[in-house]
Amino acid sequence: MKKTVRDIDVKGKRVIVRCDFNVPLKDGVITDDIRITSALPTINYLIENGAKVILMSHLGRPEGEANMKYTLLPVAKRLTELLGKEVKFISAPEVVSDEVKAAALALEEGDVMLLENVRFRKEETKNKPEFTKELADLAEVFVNDAFGTAHRAHCSTTGVADYLPAVSGFLIEKELQFLGNAVENPERPFAAIMGGAKVADKIPVIENLLGKVDILIIGGGMAYTFLKSKGYEIGKSILDADSIELTGEFIRKAEEKGVKLMLPVDVVCASDFANDALVGVFPADGIPEDLEGLDIGPETVKAYGEVLKTAKTIIWNGPMGVFEMENYQGGTRGVAEVLAESDAVTVIGGGDSAAACSQFGLADKMTHISTGGGASLEYLEGKVLPGIACLEDK
Ligand code: 3PG
Repeated sequence: MKKTVRDIDVKGKRVIVRCDFNVPLKDGVITDDIRITSALPTINYLIENGAKVILMSHLGRPEGEANMKYTLLPVAKRLTELLGKEVKFISAPEVVSDEVKAAALALEEGDVMLLENVRFRKEETKNKPEFTKELADLAEVFVNDAFGTAHRAHCSTTGVADYLPAVSGFLIEKELQFLGNAVENPERPFAAIMGGAKVADKIPVIENLLGKVDILIIGGGMAYTFLKSKGYEIGKSILDADSIELTGEFIRKAEEKGVKLMLPVDVVCASDFANDALVGVFPADGIPEDLEGLDIGPETVKAYGEVLKTAKTIIWNGPMGVFEMENYQGGTRGVAEVLAESDAVTVIGGGDSAAACSQFGLADKMTHISTGGGASLEYLEGKVLPGIACLEDK
């Protein structure tokens, strides 16, 4: 167990908090602020307990350049609205300038400031001590609450912990509680739904989960490699030829372990990767040569739904089809609806499946939606996340 802000005295101290404010923006406007609202419990706790709060985050991948396309100014504005108090923001290209240092020193108890995008400094992603030291010198305590970036060992996520007492915020605590409990201590039957385009991205997760789940449901682009390994013809559907053998192995392993592994029985096919190229639904073992599967079909949704109804814990990572296009969103929507109606503990592993739940207006029906895409995936792989490993143990 890692120490949290509750385990230390923060009163009167300058506390530097790593958040993941890597939010989607369109024309400078934040289109989804869940990563900001998820950080509020920690920030409010620190304010209420008399800390002097210095927030830091990255946004996008500016690659060491102070590119104003990636400024955190919109986040500072949104935070000011959400907290109902001014969040001081100095847009320093070097992130820690003399003005920033002076502002940090001048903070009163309960004040909040936000640094500029830490990735404006090229040292950040290389975890170079020069920049780490500049960040650490601003504060007396380090709080990491950036679950979404906990799989990165950067100056602001792990480096600072070399110089300051380091504890977790409430978001990391909550993510570990839900993801950790779901994987390590699930109420059974325990089902995992794996989707997404590329099977290669999910191999380590499937490997890890095969030893833990009772039910493994496969959808999305990766399903076609599984179907191919069963000897089915998959037409022009996406195929990861290098993984055919391994997916066949997964099917055999699942049988050995008594895991119910489910693959699509029907598929929504199109003549091209376009919404208006829809042709129709075909059986999974009869995909025409000139078509590609872009979603799981209605019979598959029904079959998956029946089995998922028996589960007590469900983890979902990756969409069932190209849900961004209307004609191929039925599978992802169908699965999201099953989870929304389920009494099971439902944990959505960030990224695209989280975006899909929001798009269908079902996000608040899930037990927990992770704020981590890559981070939750690495956590489900059983990996140690450096941004968590660097924090003090209880
Ligand atoms: C994410 O959106 O997954 C995190 O903010 C990490 O971003 P990164 O992949 O650019 O490190």
